[in-house]
Amino acid sequence: MTDSYSLADYIADLRRIAAASDDESEIMKQVSPLAARLAETPDWLTDEIYKPNEEQGFAVRVLHEEADHSLAVLAVSWLPGSGAKSHDHGTWAVVAGADGDERNVFYSRLDDRGKAGYAEIRETGQKVFGPGEVLRMNSGAIHAVYNDSDKITVSLHTYGKHPNFTDRVQYDMDAKTCTEFQFAVE
Ligand SMILES: [Fe+2]
Repeated sequence: MTDSYSLADYIADLRRIAAASDDESEIMKQVSPLAARLAETPDWLTDEIYKPNEEQGFAVRVLHEEADHSLAVLAVSWLPGSGAKSHDHGTWAVVAGADGDERNVFYSRLDDRGKAGYAEIRETGQKVFGPGEVLRMNSGAIHAVYNDSDKITVSLHTYGKHPNFTDRVQYDMDAKTCTEFQFAVE
């Protein structure tokens, strides 16, 4: 094995890990150090990744997904002052910092999910993640992301399934609503 760890190496490892377990916590535990390693040896971190999406605030580029949209690896760059409102993913997520610090706000769901479009959430904590750090979120996790810095940040996101193909939602904490949410992909 060489010192470098490529996107191709990561995809091969993802396939091996996902094939060996149905337990998302176990999958994320095994994927996390590899995601950090890929984020530190970024053959994927090209100038193209930094090209902003001014309208959305963050720009998403798909580095890999299987034909059924599983094992999606996305590079996400965030404009200074941009963010993503509270949302879930409908699948497990492993986020590795690649360039710059990103503030994550975490929430828990309070209602019983019995009423369509209604959701009560409350903030449970915040943490800033930067290069070398990895955030794991299970299928039910809710978070928001902000780039509070004055330069573009980049993080490497790996999902059990591309979130635009799950039944995930975005939350409005004050209005107590949840609505379908898909992001634009470059
Ligand atoms: Fe997210």
